[in-house]
Amino acid sequence: MELNNGYAIPCPGFGTFKTPDGDVCVDAVREAILAGYTHIDTAAVYGNERSVGEGVRQAGKPRGELFITSKLWNTERGYDNTLRACEKSLQDLGMDYLDLYLIHWPANELQFGSKATGINLDTWSAMERLVDEGLVRNIGLSNFYPSHMAPILAAANIAPAVDQIEYHPGLLQEETVALCKEQGILVEAWSPLGRGRLLEDATLAGIAAAHGKSVAHVLLRFCVQNGVLPLVKSVHTERIRENLNFLDFTLNAEEMTAIAGLPETRVGSHPDTATF
Ligand SMILES: NC(=O)c1ccc[n+]([C@@H]2O[C@H](COP(=O)([O-])OP(=O)(O)OC[C@H]3O[C@@H](n4cnc5c(N)ncnc54)[C@H](OP(=O)(O)O)[C@@H]3O)[C@@H](O)[C@H]2O)c1
Repeated sequence: MELNNGYAIPCPGFGTFKTPDGDVCVDAVREAILAGYTHIDTAAVYGNERSVGEGVRQAGKPRGELFITSKLWNTERGYDNTLRACEKSLQDLGMDYLDLYLIHWPANELQFGSKATGINLDTWSAMERLVDEGLVRNIGLSNFYPSHMAPILAAANIAPAVDQIEYHPGLLQEETVALCKEQGILVEAWSPLGRGRLLEDATLAGIAAAHGKSVAHVLLRFCVQNGVLPLVKSVHTERIRENLNFLDFTLNAEEMTAIAGLPETRVGSHPDTATF
């Protein structure tokens, strides 16, 4: 896939949320890269950036052939904190640049009242400086819905490249996806497998069987056919490898409609009510 500035972003991304720091994370990241993933998604709050960096080094692939994302945690919002937090992530990863740096969650009105927008704008301004300084190649948002995004779109010198949101059947986030498409912002899907919860769904199992694929393949394929880039996590080598094999089949229109019609479900927090 491609970002709005022409920068290539590999699909799918490999997720590391809840991947424990230490050997489990080092091994998962190394095995993912050896299996063929070139896009790794981490975040300061996952507490595993050191292990992600070590896994990358153990895989032995040149840094320039990889796409590494990290995210600014909520306690570090604001101009100066953002600059410091990015340097800390780079230090922990043992890297001298990130391909993508995201604001992990918007400051919201519930927690910050009328100051929320100003905090998000100050944070974005620092993100732009990180690009100017060459520490970050691309910047974007995560968990930003249209109301959080509007002030940034109005003020930005550098448009957000990405919005990373919870996205899977049962949570298709139509308004956010429509705004992103209109603005040329790539939507990345977190929890594309519904954090594993959708893997037992009978409708998806039937569609998977019809193609001789797994339910995970159907869920990842569904994202891509909707123009959304999935980030998929596993710590098991077999699953890490298997999850890559979803590009060799196509869901037909009837199947896409059936999948889109699955009942509403959300595995994570809503950005307007999150208070962490
Ligand atoms: N920006 C944000 O706020 C945000 C929030 C959440 C996630 N994310 C990012 O998005 C990534 C993906 O989301 P996620 O980790 O929440 O969920 P996910 O990728 O939808 O699902 C991961 C779960 O599914 C299991 N799994 C994976 N492949 C499987 C397979 N083939 N068969 C059976 N089970 C399988 C994994 O177990 P095992 O590991 O045990 O195999 C894990 O429990 C994260 O890792 C993170 O990088 C971002």
